[in-house]
Amino acid sequence: MLQQIQQQETQALSEAQSIADAASLEVWRITWIGSNGKLKAIMESLKSAPKDQKPSLGKRLNEMKQVLDSEFELRKQGVGTTVARPAMDLTEPGLRMGEGRRHILSRTIADIVQIFGRMGFDVAEGPEVEDEWHNFTALNIPDGHPAREPTDNFYMSEQGGVRRLLRTQTSTVQIRAMEAGKPPLKVVAVGRVYRPDTHDATHFSMFHQIEGLFVDKGVTMVDLKTTLWHFARACFGPEAEVRMRPSFFPFTEPSAEVDMKMCIKGVWRWVELGGCGMVDPAVLTSVGIDPEVFTGFAFGLGVERIAMRRHGISDIRLLFENDIRFLRQF
Ligand code: DAH
Repeated sequence: MLQQIQQQETQALSEAQSIADAASLEVWRITWIGSNGKLKAIMESLKSAPKDQKPSLGKRLNEMKQVLDSEFELRKQGVGTTVARPAMDLTEPGLRMGEGRRHILSRTIADIVQIFGRMGFDVAEGPEVEDEWHNFTALNIPDGHPAREPTDNFYMSEQGGVRRLLRTQTSTVQIRAMEAGKPPLKVVAVGRVYRPDTHDATHFSMFHQIEGLFVDKGVTMVDLKTTLWHFARACFGPEAEVRMRPSFFPFTEPSAEVDMKMCIKGVWRWVELGGCGMVDPAVLTSVGIDPEVFTGFAFGLGVERIAMRRHGISDIRLLFENDIRFLRQF
């Protein structure tokens, strides 16, 4: 019987050698060490063995049980990963990656810049933190002018004797463009401007403007209106119109408010979009351009207004709250 035990043990171990997955390990366990397995059967047959052999046979059988149990544990670890990992289910729908898109304001800005680009305007840039020269003085807004009041501006602490502020208008970039280059100059500048306004449906303390400047010999008001007219048609459709109403800005003479006629939800309406005019000779002089030789036009339009009218957005705050449910609509 000892021999039989030895033989069975050898067989069990050799079968265990070829186990490669959890299912065959389970079959092996049931066959050899399960409650109705072969080991159990041999143990049963011990009862009928001669009495004097029982102790040694029992000891040997216990050994075999230990050998097979530990073999099972070893194998289980070996194929353990196979047991734990479920087969890959290729019918699962998978995770949907959220589709991103550019903010409606960024897309409006890109459109505007493209339209003016087609008319030969380059893009100019200037800083959002400005000095008083570029935001006021060079634009013919003298010391003591009400537009310089602290209640209407975000002033910052002085640096090297220069007081700085967050720019209140992109007209600052007109000055920077004329300081940096000689006429002919034909540029647009888009960017953020800041004013201490109380937030409501039409006001926000930060918003965007698009500024235009064209300085050359013989530039007239006709060039200005033609440029705005082409812009209106490209931006608001082939039936859009432009209207100028006399107004006043320190940096243009004459000056006008710009209205554009556009179709909003089926109704044609005039919408005020900004200001414009012929660059004041004092402004040209302040940047060293001779107003006897060169003339220029300038305009400044509100980007949020354009975006809101084009897309039927009734509250400016929606543009900055970044509620994904709102942004997804565009
Ligand atoms: N800077 C003016 C504003 O913020 C808008 C403006 C008016 C810009 C007339 C211009 C201009 O370039 O010529 O209200």
